[in-house]
Amino acid sequence: MSHLVEDKPLIVDGMGRRFRNLRLSLTAACNYACTYCVPDGKRLQAAAFELEASEMVKAVKLLVSVAGIDKVRITGGEPLLSPKFEEILHGIMDLGLEDVSLTTNGQLLPRHADAIIRSGIRRVNVSLDTLNRDRFREIARSGDLNTVLHGIELMQAGGVAVKINMVPMQGVNDDQIIPLLEYSLARDIELRFIELMNMGHLQASPEYRQEFFSMANILELIAGAYAYTRTDAPFDSTAVRYEIPGQGVFGIIANESEPFCRNCTRLRLSSNGALYGCLSSARSRDIRALLHMPKEEAEAELVQVLRGALADKQSENFQGEVTVMKFIGG
Ligand code: GTP
Ligand code: 5AD
Repeated sequence: MSHLVEDKPLIVDGMGRRFRNLRLSLTAACNYACTYCVPDGKRLQAAAFELEASEMVKAVKLLVSVAGIDKVRITGGEPLLSPKFEEILHGIMDLGLEDVSLTTNGQLLPRHADAIIRSGIRRVNVSLDTLNRDRFREIARSGDLNTVLHGIELMQAGGVAVKINMVPMQGVNDDQIIPLLEYSLARDIELRFIELMNMGHLQASPEYRQEFFSMANILELIAGAYAYTRTDAPFDSTAVRYEIPGQGVFGIIANESEPFCRNCTRLRLSSNGALYGCLSSARSRDIRALLHMPKEEAEAELVQVLRGALADKQSENFQGEVTVMKFIGG
């Protein structure tokens, strides 16, 4: 195909997909141990194996020039837990990309609010599964609800747009769908419901089927309270979006009901320097050594790595994987 990034041929697959959206996991460590994410709260790897901040920024620069990445999302684990967070954030903001964003569980947002606001980042996605204090601790097995809510307020007061990600689960927090929707509509926050994904320990557990709460279930519940219409979303969006006229917008990330693999533009870099071409494939490619090669050599090598990573994408449906979400950052 004849697409070009400046003067370089673009890496495109047979379905016309290319990488333009990088998810950068700063650390696999997390201060939560959500029931649907990890079977226990163990740290998955020692920080010693993590890339240095300068290596991460260098990796992003290379991926921008070789793959044509123009959107970067900082994730984890929990990215605000990483001592490298601010250095990496600033390094990435300096690249002048079209879109830089952050996904966080919000627990450390109050502590980092000033730095985040000052960095010029314009949007942050916060994971929040319930507005009930005790239920919050049952699901996250740590943390404090009010701290997250305070973090959200600080972001909005600083002019940073907030989206909330909620994973509704049958019999666990499905009663929180409407309260979270009302909370979000009242604050001009886009709430996205994520269908439970068959990742990590859920692959071998009956919990997955028992707790799965589908897009149709979510829409039926909302229809009882609000009139909504489907509205537009970017072609490579994770979410299908709906508008409640005069009140706001919400979304559903429907991995099972409306898989979006066909339009996926995402590439992931793990904290230990491995590139993943697909959330639903455990295959990864280590690029640590490449970060210390001369630029031309590194770029040539990266082209080959990216071709392989692109071939890891699924053609149709999200299959799930044994990869733990905490490791790859969703
Ligand atoms: P926006 O740019 O604000 O739309 O963010 P986003 O939805 O791309 O990022 P976010 O980190 O908020 O992701 C929300 C959830 O979408 C993740 O936790 C995953 O559950 C899901 N998700 C992200 N990327 C993929 C993907 O490539 N495939 C699938 N199936 N789900 C994904
Ligand atoms: N299914 C759906 N969403 C998940 N997340 C983590 N594990 C799962 C799963 N099995 C979500 C978190 C957070 C985002 C980064 O990933 O709730 O919002």
